[in-house]
Amino acid sequence: MPTPPLAGGTAGPAALRPLVDTVLTALHDGAALRDGPLPAGGPDTVTPRTRTATHPLIPDHGTGPHHALRALVTALTEGAADPAHPHCAAHLHTPPLALAAAADLAASALNPSMDSWDQAPAATALEADLTTALAAEIYPHTPSPDAVITTGGTEANQLALLLARERHGPVQTVCATTAHHSIARAAWLLGLPQPVTVPAPDGTMDPAALDATLTRLDPPLLVVATAGTTDTGQIDPLDTIADLCTTHGAELHIDAAYGGPLLLSPTHRTLLHGLDRAQSVTLDLHKLGWQPASAGLFAVPDRHHLTPLHHHAPYLNADDDTEAGLPDLLGRSLRTTRRFDALKIAVTLQALGRTGLATFIDTTVTTAHHLADLITKTPALDLYDRPTITTVLFRPTDADDHTVATLRRTLLNRGHAVLGRANARGRLWLKATLLNPHTTPQDLQALIDLVTATRVDLETPTAPPHP
Ligand SMILES: Cc1ncc(COP(=O)(O)O)c(C=O)c1O
Repeated sequence: MPTPPLAGGTAGPAALRPLVDTVLTALHDGAALRDGPLPAGGPDTVTPRTRTATHPLIPDHGTGPHHALRALVTALTEGAADPAHPHCAAHLHTPPLALAAAADLAASALNPSMDSWDQAPAATALEADLTTALAAEIYPHTPSPDAVITTGGTEANQLALLLARERHGPVQTVCATTAHHSIARAAWLLGLPQPVTVPAPDGTMDPAALDATLTRLDPPLLVVATAGTTDTGQIDPLDTIADLCTTHGAELHIDAAYGGPLLLSPTHRTLLHGLDRAQSVTLDLHKLGWQPASAGLFAVPDRHHLTPLHHHAPYLNADDDTEAGLPDLLGRSLRTTRRFDALKIAVTLQALGRTGLATFIDTTVTTAHHLADLITKTPALDLYDRPTITTVLFRPTDADDHTVATLRRTLLNRGHAVLGRANARGRLWLKATLLNPHTTPQDLQALIDLVTATRVDLETPTAPPHP
């Protein structure tokens, strides 16, 4: 086999074009074979079929680029849970925009590594401008806000606890019972005490209980509030929590992994009132920002807050290089080699502009309200509550938790729908996290019909087999 061509340089695009064409055909063909939000049959069907189509993974003699791309991409697409399907609505798993996926191809072809300027000259400039601009959206009133790109909310939350520890020593984290599990994991990873949890009887942190908790605990304290909880999509009372933190001398981190992009919507940004009072903020654009994973952000009100991340490795940021003006990137992450995730975000922001993104966000929120309306009108279903962002919890009326769990798995196994599950008010709910701005009212009605029909189906005794 001839030496395979590279993706970069002036020759790269010509080599890529037919390969991309093969990929696009495979994406199309695989989606047509699947013909739904996910493959039917569950792991017992999907795993062997994928294995058969993709093995041997390391043959003695290669099958060639077109064959391998066609075989693997078709198999993976046929077996995908595709968030672009309106009935794939779980886990804040976003349908990426085509333009963002196209930009990601450029990032792969150029392959800048964001750990030193000499691997990423223009990418360094673009990333710096993007992170500064996004930080200024979160902290509009401070002179030098800053942000770093992360792999997502988990890494951003880890940075929040890490920097609080670096500022104050072994901080005690305090969060609601509804906080994301990555907070407790970050405390574990960093050798910090496990978080003290505050009740959230209505799905958001109870300020009176927080007040009592902060009164009894010794400093240093870090309160973590959530703007868009994982289970119900609710937003903690950020401003009230910030007041309590001021009163008790505690620091505040806000995990706005899900809700943060509401800032870009003039209609919905008031939901985030108080966000800029936090010492740090987590925000994910691979949730309500339509980016392929990963596209996370960790923002601080003052760039000096990031100083503890600075690190010295002479092959990447030698003092004389830095003194000569080469930007020092190593302190922009705990990772070393780092993907150029800023490109797809920047392309999306520029292509859609503020109004385009605001329209996308507003449309998606409206879609969630529409689903809630339909559920309310369906006697066989109960609605948890009106959505705050785009999460809608519902359950079949009078069903026990076992039935709800079985119903969800049946929809998965039949390849009909991907819905999440959430525990709230002591019961199990089906969870639809609507992130697809193309979802129509007809799609939503079809989802409701699917759920109600599947429940009836589950309760219908199966006929005995013919003798
Ligand atoms: C509120 C919240 N924070 C953090 C995370 C973790 O984000 P990631 O999966 O990007 O690490 C999630 C994930 O759903 C989340 O819902």
